[in-house]
Amino acid sequence: MMKLFHNPASPFVRKVMVTLIETDQQDDVTIVPAVGSPTASEQMPVAQNPLGKIPTLLRDSGPAIYDSRVICRFFDDRAGGRLYPQGHLWETLTLEATADGIMDAAVLMVYESRCRPEEKRSDEWVEAQWDKISRALDALESRWMSHLSGPLDMGQIAVGCALAYLDFRHGARDWRKGREALAKWLEEFAGRPAMQATQPES
Ligand code: BEZ
Repeated sequence: MMKLFHNPASPFVRKVMVTLIETDQQDDVTIVPAVGSPTASEQMPVAQNPLGKIPTLLRDSGPAIYDSRVICRFFDDRAGGRLYPQGHLWETLTLEATADGIMDAAVLMVYESRCRPEEKRSDEWVEAQWDKISRALDALESRWMSHLSGPLDMGQIAVGCALAYLDFRHGARDWRKGREALAKWLEEFAGRPAMQATQPES
């Protein structure tokens, strides 16, 4: 049985879990809880991944693999390769990278208040992270809606998890304002059984 180092709040872990469910492989993986942070790595998989980050996957044989992009591609390959279609490979990878960048910035904003003492926090730095997210959301709204509305691929899964994470941790920022097409897309995507089954608890 493969082992996945996991925290339900992580949008990167959620990407992997949604991929597992969409490709019907969830029963091939055991979940290993990994609750930590960049400043508390004792419970993180540092022996398996020198970066001590999740998701990290222990396969039945061979070294551990990470990060979420590698793990999602591994599971897609194992299931026949539907989520990275050759005809749209570079677009799919770029969309996934855009969504991962949104997650990166959104998680860093959370860590700024969770891991750094109040007197050392920087509002300017936090707002710079939000500016990145905002620009990426505008790009999704103006340039990616047609791709998002096509057959399911990894770009869509990543965007779904990124937007859901904004709702989960940054709901007060109201990312939907001025991005009606993207908001409508998420409303439908969030209804997929794989998204419903992986909702984090606050
Ligand atoms: C969170 O609580 O938002 C979180 C937890 C683990 C990884 C990333 C984010």
